[in-house]
Amino acid sequence: MKRFTQIVTVALLLLVGFTPLFAGGQEESDAQIVGVAMPTQSSQRWIQDGGFMKEILEERGYEVDLQYAEDNIDAQVSQIENMIVKGADVLVIAAIDGAALFNVLEQAAANDVKIISYDRLIINSPHVSYYATFDNFKVGVQQGGYIVEALDLASGAGPFNIELFAGSPDDTNAYYFFDGAMSELQPYIDSDQLNVVSGQTDFDQVATLRWDGQVAQQRMDNILAAFYTDTDVHAVLSPYDGLSIGILSALKSVGYGSAKDIPIVTGQDAEVPSMKSILAGEQAHTVFKDTRTLARRAADMVDAVLQGVEPEINDTTTYDNNIKVVPSFLEEPVSVDITNWEEALIDTGYYTMEDLGL
Ligand code: GAL
Repeated sequence: MKRFTQIVTVALLLLVGFTPLFAGGQEESDAQIVGVAMPTQSSQRWIQDGGFMKEILEERGYEVDLQYAEDNIDAQVSQIENMIVKGADVLVIAAIDGAALFNVLEQAAANDVKIISYDRLIINSPHVSYYATFDNFKVGVQQGGYIVEALDLASGAGPFNIELFAGSPDDTNAYYFFDGAMSELQPYIDSDQLNVVSGQTDFDQVATLRWDGQVAQQRMDNILAAFYTDTDVHAVLSPYDGLSIGILSALKSVGYGSAKDIPIVTGQDAEVPSMKSILAGEQAHTVFKDTRTLARRAADMVDAVLQGVEPEINDTTTYDNNIKVVPSFLEEPVSVDITNWEEALIDTGYYTMEDLGL
């Protein structure tokens, strides 16, 4: 009996002693860790980007550390530092400020952590392996081109009044969107079919720091009060739905959409509030960028850097980050308005009718 008790005691001790060790050891050696740093949860698209990234990477067996920094640059830097300390193997980063990550990426590289730029290009760092994004110039072409078509400018119509908005100056995407849009609009500004009544046409004058909808609303309020007391605005170039909603609020507060026609307002991201606005006949247009596709693309890049192979890339010339041209994959944006929203967003399973309040 005594001997039996001894055996049981030893067995129990072994079990108690070894179980946590074994479980812990397995966890550490098995799953590779991917840190996913997203800019903010104030915009629905980034919530979807983060959610899809986590889901896809977990399906592929990775452990995922997903963080949002609420557009606070210091918070994003310290989240990335934490990811490195916690043993991340790869970082997938959608930067708040593309130029603010130099030091933390030096730290990542020193720890042999691979870096993938997500949607927005990280500049000034040599350590960015790949860039997963959409064709950002084409997004702008779709926005500007939508205004050209809606106003029938190619047939010589006009003159019309237009105001221009651009995105955040610390996000390289903002320049590509604006340049793409202006490649469509500038010829009609030159021919006087489009008149920018405020005279504000330079990127610096029309940029919107941190893509903040309230900043855009305030600027539109000011423009309407200063330049549109005895004339109407017919179109507004907006690069992003969050700005479009602010711009539309400013317009509606002075009678557009009731006493007078609402102008053509563009957008981007097909966010739910903007889809509802399009269905209500207010916002005219948006650009749908399928975040499921982008997340899958970035996950493929994660696989590739960890296996030491080249991922599929389709652009090796456009995205110069001041240190190197970052090999990129550009996904296709889709121009959406009242005529094709169902095909683009419902038939593809991106939204349900209920998501859009229908
Ligand atoms: C850009 C992105 C756009 C939009 C914007 C504001 O970098 O490409 O799709 O989301 O940020 O979040």
